[in-house]
Amino acid sequence: MTAADLPRDAPDPDREWSFDELADAYAYPPEAETVPWLRANMVSSLDGAGQHDGRSQPLSSETDMRIFGILRALADVVVVGAETVRLEGYRPARAREVFAERRAAAGQGPAPVIAVVSASLNLDFSLPLFTEPLVPTLVLTGAASSPERRAEAERAGAEVVIAGDGPGVDPERAVAALAERGLRRLLTEGGPRLLGQFVAADVLDELCLTVSPTMTAGTAQRIAGGPSVEVPKRFAVASLLEQDGFLFTRYRRI
Ligand SMILES: NC(=O)c1ccc[n+]([C@@H]2O[C@H](COP(=O)([O-])OP(=O)(O)OC[C@H]3O[C@@H](n4cnc5c(N)ncnc54)[C@H](OP(=O)(O)O)[C@@H]3O)[C@@H](O)[C@H]2O)c1
Repeated sequence: MTAADLPRDAPDPDREWSFDELADAYAYPPEAETVPWLRANMVSSLDGAGQHDGRSQPLSSETDMRIFGILRALADVVVVGAETVRLEGYRPARAREVFAERRAAAGQGPAPVIAVVSASLNLDFSLPLFTEPLVPTLVLTGAASSPERRAEAERAGAEVVIAGDGPGVDPERAVAALAERGLRRLLTEGGPRLLGQFVAADVLDELCLTVSPTMTAGTAQRIAGGPSVEVPKRFAVASLLEQDGFLFTRYRRI
């Protein structure tokens, strides 16, 4: 669409969007009031890398981080794999003044809960993520994980949620267990091994994918890993924004 196609009073499409405009554009669908909605937010290079030197930051941009913040601000819970927590030095989610009113109106606490998915429970429970969050961090694990490590997580202040019969978590049970706690607006920030399981279990409703105008070559993981699905899952484009060559796409499961 060109500027000539727009109504005279339409906002300039090239303007910088406000937090409120972005939050409206990325709002969870109304069904998330009653049933869980799992959205993923990931960044990929043009040649499909989901990381560079073990981090996603080299693929990201200021606007990408802004949208990352918006997606967190809209979520009840951020679900993340233990390896991403270990490699990216995860910290507790912050309460941000600019979103305070919106979160209160949606019946949400000041910041989303972080839910770490782990079977080994090989996590540093002395980190602020576990000891200093505004709302207790959840540790999603399986019934056969180490009771000693679970007790350590609880001593640090985390809440352990069992969502699997073996040491690991069953993706469907994880979503159901979070929904049972009233956490229905779900956001996963990966990493690829965790996201691949959500895709395979058919519980991923939406993908917010930033296409970064970079190429890395090499052998970096793609944004979703693990065994491939039998038939490719189909998604439809829900929105597309651009800034500085970065594409901010949003796809919904068909
Ligand atoms: N491009 C992006 O947007 C993006 C986003 C996030 C991360 N990343 C990058 O991805 C890399 C890390 O991702 P990753 O795929 O290696 O790891 P990951 O998915 O973050 O974490 C994998 C770990 O999560 C736990 N886990 C996964 N599935 C589980 C299940 N069903 N039950 C119990 N535990 C489970 C296991 O932890 P335990 O070993 O503790 O059992 C497993 O080792 C980093 O380099 C990070 O920078 C990129």
